[in-house]
Amino acid sequence: MVTYVDAATAPLKNTGVIRLYGAEAFEGLRKAGRFAAECLDAVVPLARPGVTTQEIDDFVHDFALKGGALPATLNYRGYNKSVCTSINHVVCHGIPDDRPLKDGDIVNIDVTFVVDGWHGDSSRMYLVGDVKRAAARLVDVTYESLLRGIAEVRPGNTTGDIGHAIQTYVESERCSVVRDFCGHGIGLLFHDTPNILHYGEPGTGVELRPGMVFTIEPMVNLGRPAVKVLSDGWTAVTRDRSLSAQFEHMVGVTETGCEVFTLSPKGLHKPPYAI
Ligand code: MF3
Ligand code: CO
Ligand code: CO
Repeated sequence: MVTYVDAATAPLKNTGVIRLYGAEAFEGLRKAGRFAAECLDAVVPLARPGVTTQEIDDFVHDFALKGGALPATLNYRGYNKSVCTSINHVVCHGIPDDRPLKDGDIVNIDVTFVVDGWHGDSSRMYLVGDVKRAAARLVDVTYESLLRGIAEVRPGNTTGDIGHAIQTYVESERCSVVRDFCGHGIGLLFHDTPNILHYGEPGTGVELRPGMVFTIEPMVNLGRPAVKVLSDGWTAVTRDRSLSAQFEHMVGVTETGCEVFTLSPKGLHKPPYAI
């Protein structure tokens, strides 16, 4: 049984009820989402050979503090960076370090900020130098799968409709959907109910209602879907070491469909980001 509650009155922890946010909350989420999108725009020039992921972390940290925001990942469940940087066969939660990006890498940069108490969570892929055709195709398939998931977001549809649209498209392109990580409710909390699976059957899961806010963030592999988490406790990699890609948007359900809070103000939706 799922229950829906007015987000303004519910206790500030994940108790399994689905928060429904009102117009004022949407205003806050719009700002937080836009802030994340602006950061992902600003980071484009750093996605080049020789730049270390720690330099990207420093940039994102600085971007947050200069903008009056906080990086939500900093000290989140023991994570101690301001961004996740997931390169090539890293599926998600790659930890920035002093290794430089190399020509041909594909990297996901995932930022989450808290702006006036509201979370803004988004990620994009970046192509480093000259990228092989198969890798660029994976990135395109992953982006298109996110759009197909978003197209299912409207009142009366279910979370399963989102997952089904993503999975059927990804598999029709001979790629696979990661099962071990999912999208999530978001707003006053970073990770809230419900889970948004990127696979599944139409009509299953939770019914979408106006005021629901969540992320859709498909992770798509060129090879098998299986992942493992490295001994650092965070870095998730494909078991077969095949390439993995991810894009993430944060959406709010409206009366007629949805609003995407994390659209790029500069139109840098997917690579190549010719700037
Ligand atoms: N931003 C990630 C997400 O999309 C979560 C990162 S949590 C961290 O949900 F601790 F790994 F940073
Ligand atoms: Co997320
Ligand atoms: Co994220």
